[in-house]
Amino acid sequence: MSTVPERPQSPAPDTVAPEAGTRHTGSGAPGDVLVDVRGVKVHFPIKKGVIIDRTIGYVYAVDGIDMQIRQGETYGLVGESGCGKSTLGRAILNLEPPTEGSVEFDGVDIASLKGETLRRKRKDIQMVFQDPMSSLDPRQSVESLLLEGMKAHGLVKDDASANQRLKQLLRDVGLPPQALQKYPHEFSGGQRQRIGIARALSVEPKLIVADEPVSALDVSVQAQVINLLEDLQEEYGLTYLVVAHDLAVVRHISDRIGVMYLGALAEEASGDDLYAHPLHPYTRALLSAVPVPDPVVEDRREQILLTGDLPSPSRPPSGCRFHTRCPWRQETRCDTERPELREVSIEGVEPGHRVACHWAEQIASGEIQPHRVDAVAVEQSSDSGDGSLIGPASVEELL
Ligand SMILES: Nc1ncnc2c1ncn2[C@@H]1O[C@H](COP(=O)(O)OP(=O)(O)O)[C@@H](O)[C@H]1O
Ligand code: SF4
Ligand SMILES: [Mg+2]
Repeated sequence: MSTVPERPQSPAPDTVAPEAGTRHTGSGAPGDVLVDVRGVKVHFPIKKGVIIDRTIGYVYAVDGIDMQIRQGETYGLVGESGCGKSTLGRAILNLEPPTEGSVEFDGVDIASLKGETLRRKRKDIQMVFQDPMSSLDPRQSVESLLLEGMKAHGLVKDDASANQRLKQLLRDVGLPPQALQKYPHEFSGGQRQRIGIARALSVEPKLIVADEPVSALDVSVQAQVINLLEDLQEEYGLTYLVVAHDLAVVRHISDRIGVMYLGALAEEASGDDLYAHPLHPYTRALLSAVPVPDPVVEDRREQILLTGDLPSPSRPPSGCRFHTRCPWRQETRCDTERPELREVSIEGVEPGHRVACHWAEQIASGEIQPHRVDAVAVEQSSDSGDGSLIGPASVEELL
């Protein structure tokens, strides 16, 4: 694991400043670090035994992540199904306490919070889920769903102002005021996701973790919901962590993108730089599989084909996690030494671009060439709900 640099001392939990109570985000300025993830690991024990539970191994769902999400930005986290995206999202909310490492939110170590302070802090981080139907209680009207959190956090002063706020929320997410009296099943998938977003907004959060927010929706509706998230970010001054298995979705919405592979970040860069200069072989392979609408460019497009299945997170490969599928794998280091996520200095590449590959510079310069690989298409999961990393080109076209 990489060495964790020192960071300033957090205030003690009981000295956390009272909430500002405004619609706009955190105590810091835009660009300041809002979420600071340091060396986070989440390992799930695998148990066996009828009478006595024995731990026979671990699922290394998240296995050493360092990342920062800055105030006002959208961080897109992308990776194949099962690579640990949701677990990392839950660790940020402290719903899944890290096995190792720490998460600071707005300068406070979340793991150190308890009781009322934790409850207040949780309000600042809200989640939007893939399937709004399972996250919205079908027996509650939209009004009651939206009021629930507001009441719990003391955001309802009187009926008149609450009513005004509810109508404002609905307007913000593009639903009519009549929606208040209806129940989740009376809406389409896209409308339900709008209710899920309104519910997250209702408690005036600073960060929204949107876990596959459009994966369950039709392509045309996906674009509308993504546009809505973008509009709301500006209006509410929100910070987003958008988790997706679909590169097309994160590309459009993200300021920065982290590409995750088997519990760790393979690469992280601004959206533009990642697409212009993908440095990690995994990212290059993913991008090379995105079809280009222009037939001439499409014919000349570099296509990198990955061999082999995604290894199980309970038996991650030694050294570089990607070495079992990497067309650039070298005799030295790749199988034995785990690469650190490090900032590279390569001509044309933006500062802050980080990659976890021992040979990133040599690959970028062409000094190391990919080996010939068997013609197996880039891995695409058969799970259609949460599988293919490469979204339909039409999602991008619709945005
Ligand atoms: N509560 C849990 N107990 C055991 N294994 C889990 C648990 N939650 C997730 N996992 C496993 O951790 C890995 C990462 O899961 P997840 O974070 O859901 O991935 P993603 O969101 O990228 O699809 C998967 O192998 C999954 O089966
Ligand atoms: S460290 Fe080696 S195996 Fe890993 S991505 Fe780089 S070249 Fe491939
Ligand atoms: Mg997930």
